[in-house]
Amino acid sequence: MGVSVYQTPAFMLLTLGFIIVFIMTAVFFVSREFVSIEILIIAEAVVVSFILIIGNTIIGSMEKLARVNKFKSEFISIVSHQLKTPLTGISWDMEFLMSKHSDGLNSKQIEILKNIEALNVIMAKMVNDLLDVARIDQNNFFTRKDEIDIVSVVKKVIEKNKALTLKNKVNIDLLVDDNMPKIIGDEKRTEVVLDNFISNAIKYNKENGKVIIKMQKDNRRAIISVKDTGIGIPENEQDRVFEKFYRSKEAASRETGGTGLGLYIAKNIIERSEGKVWFRSVENEGTEFHFSLPII
Ligand SMILES: Nc1ncnc2c1ncn2[C@@H]1O[C@H](COP(=O)(O)OP(=O)(O)OP(=O)(O)O)[C@@H](O)[C@H]1O
Ligand SMILES: [Mg+2]
Repeated sequence: MGVSVYQTPAFMLLTLGFIIVFIMTAVFFVSREFVSIEILIIAEAVVVSFILIIGNTIIGSMEKLARVNKFKSEFISIVSHQLKTPLTGISWDMEFLMSKHSDGLNSKQIEILKNIEALNVIMAKMVNDLLDVARIDQNNFFTRKDEIDIVSVVKKVIEKNKALTLKNKVNIDLLVDDNMPKIIGDEKRTEVVLDNFISNAIKYNKENGKVIIKMQKDNRRAIISVKDTGIGIPENEQDRVFEKFYRSKEAASRETGGTGLGLYIAKNIIERSEGKVWFRSVENEGTEFHFSLPII
């Protein structure tokens, strides 16, 4: 059902059993000095029945909740899988149209097609994010252990975000320690993490703002930091940053889209790769996100 072993009905029943044995023994020792054996038996029976009824109701409701939760994750997973096929079809057809049959189209028509393609990319990202969330919730999310040349991955992600960087008039600096070693992690998924950190630093920045990406190493790990001079995260909301669907008011009011799943997925990716994620943010001054991964 996607719950930990401590939340399973069987475990709760076992715990309830131990509580009942404990209470029965306590009632026995406390009352045997004062009352007759018949009253003692009746008292024990009443106490145990009471605990059993309450316990059973609680366990039943928890089981129901877990079932609904499991159904929800399965529903998201099935819907996302089904949406993936037509989206991939649209993407292929668009590519085919643009590369082989764009001769007869005027510039306005090409602009519209490019817009459709960009919207398709956004939709595909959302569907992929939803699929990842469903996998995480179902405990079915696995990461590979690749040897990653992290410097080239960072450069690739900076390049990928170039259009967003120009649109938001943000300047990116990259500072890399000498002889940066390879790291161990899931290459594709680490790229997803970097893409989210870097796109967040651009999206939630101010005009003419800065993004500084630092890559450092110590004995056992590489630390990647993405610092910006943007809107920051309100202090009273900072403990919700890695929650699913969290978006600050200021971020949600911006034109740049987002679902609030990026950091939730990023945290899961890094922690499943034996790394850590942390951040520091001051509202209206800026934010710095870091993650570490083991080096070879
Ligand atoms: N660098 C940042 N500066 C300010 N706020 C940030 C920054 N990074 C994240 N946040 C806040 O945390 C929220 C969650 O970030 P997250 O990356 O999970 O979602 P998102 O960027 O809104 O959408 P997406 O799912 O497309 O990544 C953001 O909406 C924003 O409010
Ligand atoms: Mg994001």
